[in-house]
Amino acid sequence: MSLGLNPSPPTLSVKGISKGFSEKGGELQVLSDVTFEIERGELVCVLGPSGCGKSTLLKIVAGLEAPDEGTVEVDGRAVSTPGSDRCVVFQEDALFPWLTVSENVAFGARGRMSKSELKSEVDGYLDMTGLSRFADYLPREISGGMRQRVALARVLILKPKVLLMDEPFGALDAQSREAMQRLLLSIVKDLSHTVMFITHDVAEAVAIADRVIVMDRSPGRISSIVTVEDQAETHSRLRAIMHSL
Ligand SMILES: Nc1ncnc2c1ncn2[C@@H]1O[C@H](COP(=O)(O)OP(=O)(O)OP(=O)(O)O)[C@@H](O)[C@H]1O
Ligand SMILES: [Mg+2]
Repeated sequence: MSLGLNPSPPTLSVKGISKGFSEKGGELQVLSDVTFEIERGELVCVLGPSGCGKSTLLKIVAGLEAPDEGTVEVDGRAVSTPGSDRCVVFQEDALFPWLTVSENVAFGARGRMSKSELKSEVDGYLDMTGLSRFADYLPREISGGMRQRVALARVLILKPKVLLMDEPFGALDAQSREAMQRLLLSIVKDLSHTVMFITHDVAEAVAIADRVIVMDRSPGRISSIVTVEDQAETHSRLRAIMHSL
C-alpha cells in the first residue's frame, strides 16, 4: 500500500491566467491561459517580445493587477493582493531620494526586528551587494548600477518567498548589466531564492536562468519552456524560437 507521500507544492504556481484591457475600439486580449510553476531555489526567466504581456503577468503575480481568469499560488496558497512574500524590483529603481543607501535598505524592514538586529541585517545586505562604502550616500550620488544594487538589497532584507524582477538591469550599460547578473546569480544561489525574472534579451536569459519561459504575443501565451543546460546551444535555440514568433 502506498504511504501517500504528499510532495510540497511549488513555491510559485501560475494557473490559467488570462487578462484583457478595454480599449477605445474594444477589448485587447493581453494574456491567454498562462500556466507555469517555479520550484524553490529556481531562477526562471520570462522572455518575449515587447508588448507580449510580460509586465502584466508580473504585476498579476505581484497582486498589483487582477487577472480575468486564473489563479496565482505561493506555497500552495492562493494570493490575489500584494504581499511581502512577493517582492518586486522594477527597471526604475524607485528608491526614496531623500534617504541614504542604508536607510533605503532598512525602510521596508523597520518594525519587523529590533534596532540592533536591523542594523546588522542592513550591514549584511550592504556587504553582500558591495555597497558598504556607500551606506551614507544619497541615491543621486551613486551610479545606476549601484542604485539597482540598493533596490535588490532592500527587497532581499524582506526575505520574500519569490523575487519578481521586471527587466531590472535593462537601463544599465552592458558592463554593469553583466556585473549585476553575476551578483544576482551569486546571491540567489547562495540564499536559495526563487526568482521570476523578466527580460527581452536572449543573452541575459541564457546567462542567468535555470529555465526560460518563452512568450508569444497577441495574445501573450507560452510558446515554449526551455531548460538551460548548454548555454551556447540554448542561446541558438532561443534565438530561433524568438525569430519564429
Ligand atoms: N493598464 C493597462 N491598460 C491598457 N492596456 C494596457 C495596460 N497595461 C498594459 N497594457 C497593454 O498590454 C500590452 C502588454 O503590455 P506589457 O507592459 O505587459 O508588455 P511587456 O511584454 O512587458 O512589454 P515590454 O517588453 O515593452 O515591457 C500592451 O499592448 C500594453 O499597451
Ligand atoms: Mg514590460
